[in-house]
Amino acid sequence: MRNPHHRAGRLRSALLAAVLLAGTALAVGLGVGRPDHAAAATSLKSLADAKGRDIGFALDPGRLSETAYRQIADTEFNLVVAENAMKWDATEPSPGQFTFGQGDAVASYAAGGGKKLYGHTLVWHSQLPNWVSNLPGPDLLQAMRSHITGVAGHYRGKVVAWDVVNEAFADGGSGGRRDSVFQQRIGDRWIEEAFRAARAADPAAKLCINDYSTDGVNAKSTAIWNLVRDFKARGVPIDCVGLQAHLIVGQVPGDLQANLQRFADLGVDVRITELDIRMPTPPSAANLAAQAADYKRVVTACLAVSRCAGVTTWGITDRYSWIPGVFPGQGAALIWDDNYQPKPAYQAVKPLFHELGR
Ligand code: G3I
Repeated sequence: MRNPHHRAGRLRSALLAAVLLAGTALAVGLGVGRPDHAAAATSLKSLADAKGRDIGFALDPGRLSETAYRQIADTEFNLVVAENAMKWDATEPSPGQFTFGQGDAVASYAAGGGKKLYGHTLVWHSQLPNWVSNLPGPDLLQAMRSHITGVAGHYRGKVVAWDVVNEAFADGGSGGRRDSVFQQRIGDRWIEEAFRAARAADPAAKLCINDYSTDGVNAKSTAIWNLVRDFKARGVPIDCVGLQAHLIVGQVPGDLQANLQRFADLGVDVRITELDIRMPTPPSAANLAAQAADYKRVVTACLAVSRCAGVTTWGITDRYSWIPGVFPGQGAALIWDDNYQPKPAYQAVKPLFHELGR
């Protein structure tokens, strides 16, 4: 039998070496003596990597030629999703004619930087070409299957997960389905048909359902919860639920974590997929501080749930956010400002990946 004292001694030496290593890593992390490496060592990406969580952003590949955009994209994120480039209008503008130029630019950026690629989105009522909207039911089902096969097949093995179905549920308290062209012409089964086609096209990708105003426990999120429970019971493939989290400052639902957890308890992953927190523009200092606290709430809720894969923000800089175009007079919703300066929300989020989580 080995001498336990020698073993204890070896353990002590190993521990000491680990402490010294950790100390060196911390010193580098704090920028002591290595200011050039300090930023990378303490980026959101490096901290999220260490926690095994995803920190993602919605990419417009056309912006990568901008130095500041590129630099932040490269250093701060470990996951990339196409803001528009993999949607139906971008990938199959005419029947059976697939165009992957923009989507492939996103995929190759992700691969080149060692980042995960998240697919968005296979079936959505918006950004849908007219030729699809005009099809009668049986043809629409066939077109939906063939679109999923074409796009998910093209990116097979490259994406970690797909938003297979986006925004399929109605707003308000009805708890019903959105009255989309898919719902009208195919009926309730259109969602499971989409998931089955996606599983066949890319068996390794996690298959998610994604929606907005589902961040707290409410009629819409409960409708999705019921769908996931039903799919699980019947063996319809589904692996994850995305909560978009397009939020308003001061209005993060208090039950966000409980909502994430109740989905996780069904046996699926969850993630915050499109986070931004808007406010009237120009932003006041008080609102920027409130926004920082809100971002902290959202990221903390995700990190507290072990099946929450991570958080994706819907862009990098306020300069290019979709919000002012859709909500005039509002914006400042992301964590870098119009001039790529990190906002209080950035500073609030960063330490969380260091302190919290599994
Ligand atoms: O590509 C055309 C271009 O050819 C044309 O010249 C230009 C003129 O307006 O429009 C361009 O298309 C725009 C497209 O973004 C690409 O820039 C559309 O008008 C514009 O409506 C579209 O907006 C996108 C929106 O989805 C569409 O509903 C936003 O960038 C994108 O951020 C937003 O993202 C959605 C998620 O996919 C789903 N969840 C909600 C989220 C915010 O709406």
